[in-house]
Amino acid sequence: MSLDDLYREVILDHYKKPRNKRHLDGADIDLEHNNPLCGDEIRIEAKVADGGIGDITFEGQGCSISQASASMLTEQAKGKSLDEVEKLVLAFRGLMAGKEDIDDEALGDLVALKGVVKYPVRIKCAVLAWDTLQEGVQTFKSSH
Ligand code: FES
Repeated sequence: MSLDDLYREVILDHYKKPRNKRHLDGADIDLEHNNPLCGDEIRIEAKVADGGIGDITFEGQGCSISQASASMLTEQAKGKSLDEVEKLVLAFRGLMAGKEDIDDEALGDLVALKGVVKYPVRIKCAVLAWDTLQEGVQTFKSSH
């Protein structure tokens, strides 16, 4: 199996069996964004405990890339401090900008989205959840 096939399988697995896709009661971070090009939506909800992400979930509808990226995001962000989450957002943005010096290990399954770089129109799909999380974290930080 080629690396591209493996990545495709990881993306489809997250799309078909999304992790942490549910409503979260009492969330401290609760934000929704949509992709104006297609109308697809992602809502990110998270609880903050001890300066970090205690729990994080998503809801939404859209293409396989946007939904798989949100599913992977929840897995990677859970348990991280808010500062670490912001670093993760930057690392993911670097991956989407085609940077080579990215720490793959820190990104986990997210490396499967590397191939998206070849299709600029899909980059917006992949970063939709990340834009939402980043704004949510910034809003939370500025109000606490
Ligand atoms: Fe709408 Fe991908 S086509 S987010």
